[in-house]
Amino acid sequence: MRLPESQVAVLEAASATDAQTIDQLAEATSLKPETVTGAAFDLRDDGLVAVEETVETSATLTDEGEEYLADGLPEVRLYRAALDAGADEDPVEMGQLIGASGLGGPKVQIALSNFARKGYGVIDGGKVDADPDADPDADEEAAALAAVADGDAGSVDDAVLDQLESRGLVARDERTVRSVTLTEDGVTALMEGVEAAQTVDRLTPEMLTTGEWQDVEFTEYNVEADAPTAQGGKTHILRQTADRVKDTLVGMGFKEMEGPHADADFWINDCLFMPQDHPARTHWDRFALDVPPIHEVPEDLVDRVEDAHRNGVGEDGDGYHSPWSEDFARQVALRGHTTSLSMRYLSGYAQGELEPPQRYFSVEKVYRNDTLDPTHLLEFFQIEGWVMAEDLSVRDLMGTFEEFYRQFGITDIQFKPHYNPYTEPSFELFGRHPETGEMIEIGNSGMFRPEVLEPLGVECDVMAWGLALERLLMLMYGFEDIRDVHGTLCDLELLRETEVLH
Ligand code: PHE
Repeated sequence: MRLPESQVAVLEAASATDAQTIDQLAEATSLKPETVTGAAFDLRDDGLVAVEETVETSATLTDEGEEYLADGLPEVRLYRAALDAGADEDPVEMGQLIGASGLGGPKVQIALSNFARKGYGVIDGGKVDADPDADPDADEEAAALAAVADGDAGSVDDAVLDQLESRGLVARDERTVRSVTLTEDGVTALMEGVEAAQTVDRLTPEMLTTGEWQDVEFTEYNVEADAPTAQGGKTHILRQTADRVKDTLVGMGFKEMEGPHADADFWINDCLFMPQDHPARTHWDRFALDVPPIHEVPEDLVDRVEDAHRNGVGEDGDGYHSPWSEDFARQVALRGHTTSLSMRYLSGYAQGELEPPQRYFSVEKVYRNDTLDPTHLLEFFQIEGWVMAEDLSVRDLMGTFEEFYRQFGITDIQFKPHYNPYTEPSFELFGRHPETGEMIEIGNSGMFRPEVLEPLGVECDVMAWGLALERLLMLMYGFEDIRDVHGTLCDLELLRETEVLH
């Protein structure tokens, strides 16, 4: 029988005595342990050897363990000091014993917490009452420390080792030991004779030019060999889902918008008919930036927006009877929603005048000064979108959401009437959480008001929305805390294992 060289060596070495470990075989064959392991598994697959695996535990003393081996365990020292002070007859002040035992710093605490546990006595009202019958020379943990130091951890009771490990005195290490025994087929093969096949594991330019490659036998790759799992980089599930949302919306006929994260309040709020004294526009909710105001806002649009705020639109329109200042509108902040982008596009500022019908979206970050909790972060991804067309109704809006969410397997959506200064009517969207069964808010939507559209110069209907990407993910994967996917508390397992299917 012809076998690769390393397998012949291992087979022969394994026949010398019964059940040899990989290390022994490596020693006998002068091969690397990993080569021996590979050869042994190949031989096993051919039925020539059996490989048995056992888990061997070894233990070593930590620095603290070494220290107690030399000086005694703190609780034992306390007990001996207590006996010396006569605490087995009358309780003795703790302070006195601590001085006498020579224990200091954190060791006092360690001594106290183990003293009672081991039955050395009772500590009550600052006094130590020692049990006269306890035997410090029979302390199991002290004996175990000595055994571990002698390399005889195997003789120590598992529970005692567990205790020492949890006290940080012993470190345990587990390793798999494999031993190899010849099978009957292996013995027969050896008797009949095995010879080493000269295999080549690398193709060289010389072999190619001389034509030698035609005569040699190549080593086979073992594509089933155990290999360490490599945790490579991968696209974050939020990003994967964002990409899928973009694909879905493009598939529904939408084009993508882009624009600044830090923007003039004019685009973030004023165009949206948000009064300048609206609570959302105070420093409580918004991240104002200490930068010079934005200059390039279109003057005629500023005038029309101001007019809408002051006087309203239409024959019997009415504005807000509150102050409006252009300086205030030019201040810069991190956008609290991406509706700022919708304003830039609808006004014609981003891409020139748009003729209906049009559909636009973005999946971008927004920033809010919220309180952190399982469902709120200071920033999240918003799925913004709008449709501009003649004669749109709420049914178009609802139908669009139903179609959109259905593509993510979400069919249980509910709508709740809502108020936005810029849409009328407005609806909040809710979806059912697959784990908790609760309806959670997943977005906000509505039909833009004339007070928004008229200054922008849009003469037909526009329905619009902002949905939270993170909430969509919660509905898709069932996690309950947004911090599982964002930031330092994230759940790495979840991020590694969740596969976003397209
Ligand atoms: N801007 C709203 C929000 O952030 C979403 C929205 C956009 C609502 C457009 C209606 C119209 O909640």
